[in-house]
Amino acid sequence: MIKIAFFETKEYDKKLFDEYNKKYGYEITYLESRLNAETAPLARGFDVVCIFVNDMVDEKTIKILKECGVKLIALRCAGFNNVDIKHMDKDIKVVRVPAYSPYAVAEHATALLLDLDRKIYKAYQRTKKYNFTLNGLLGFDIHGKTVGVVGTGKIGKCFIDIMKGFGTEIIAYDIYENEQLAKEKGFKYVSLDELYEKSDIISLHCPLTEDNMKMINKNSIEKMKKGVVIINTSRGKLIDTEDLIVELEKGKIGGLGLDVYEDEEEFFLNDMSNSYIRDKDLSTLLSMPNVVITSHQAFFTKEALNKIASDTCENIKDIFEKGECVNEVK
Ligand code: NAI
Repeated sequence: MIKIAFFETKEYDKKLFDEYNKKYGYEITYLESRLNAETAPLARGFDVVCIFVNDMVDEKTIKILKECGVKLIALRCAGFNNVDIKHMDKDIKVVRVPAYSPYAVAEHATALLLDLDRKIYKAYQRTKKYNFTLNGLLGFDIHGKTVGVVGTGKIGKCFIDIMKGFGTEIIAYDIYENEQLAKEKGFKYVSLDELYEKSDIISLHCPLTEDNMKMINKNSIEKMKKGVVIINTSRGKLIDTEDLIVELEKGKIGGLGLDVYEDEEEFFLNDMSNSYIRDKDLSTLLSMPNVVITSHQAFFTKEALNKIASDTCENIKDIFEKGECVNEVK
């Protein structure tokens, strides 16, 4: 029987995987710990480690997993920037779930944008207290604005469709331009600089790589329009948080919607409300009036969770039965 060490388990993971596993019969051990070099010895005797966005598989972790006899790392997410693929051992395979619901993430990016624009987060607090005034809630029409989309893959495409419905002009940047897609959807590829200069709203939908680490920094923000709204549902390290805070304090950025944060690992997905551990930059961002932060929840819809569970189970089956899988990361 295939033995799986399931790291960073949440109640909803267990419920769904137990349901889907009825068809597969894997022996799953649910662990609350995150996988990293310290916790990797827990994987001894398991064939598979099943991990999520903030588990950290660096070179040292890979060595320990190899010693423990692990043959497969099954990511139950799309991004794999937390796995050091360059140093992966030849005896360990890596699979992921590349597309569980691009709609979930694109819709969440839109929710952040609308929340920021129409100040729903402020209005909610007010009306709860029976305060029905409108001062400070002034928004803007999204219709007619220029939206810059970085990354026109599965999620970027959905986001473009949604933004088209608002009557916006879309410009996009991608390292691989898909001219047919641009024609079909009615948007234009531009350079990153042009995107920064022309966009009223910028939404990030590209993976985190060595090349685009901290791409949103002092220099890029300087090129942007005053009052620009930045939305990041991709990966926190695409943004230099210190530079971002300086620009927010200067009033350059009109709104910031984050579902991911540069140093989210210790905080996101955990209840830290009773802890004294704080992150200075995160606290600064949370204290700002034009910043809305969610805790890596863009993927979190019923449809996406079901697809994650079914595809992860199927990925594991493919690797152990056929020795290969379409969702393998090489
Ligand atoms: P995808 O692989 O379908 O599309 C990514 C696109 O980005 C591709 O067109 C690619 O050519 C482009 N790209 C790659 N490097 C780039 C760069 N340096 N600059 C501009 N474009 C670049 O991926 P998908 O499914 O659209 O996901 C995008 C990202 O969204 C994931 O990598 C992940 O980081 C993030 N994500 C976040 C979730 C959340 O819950 N917040 C959930 C799922 C994904």
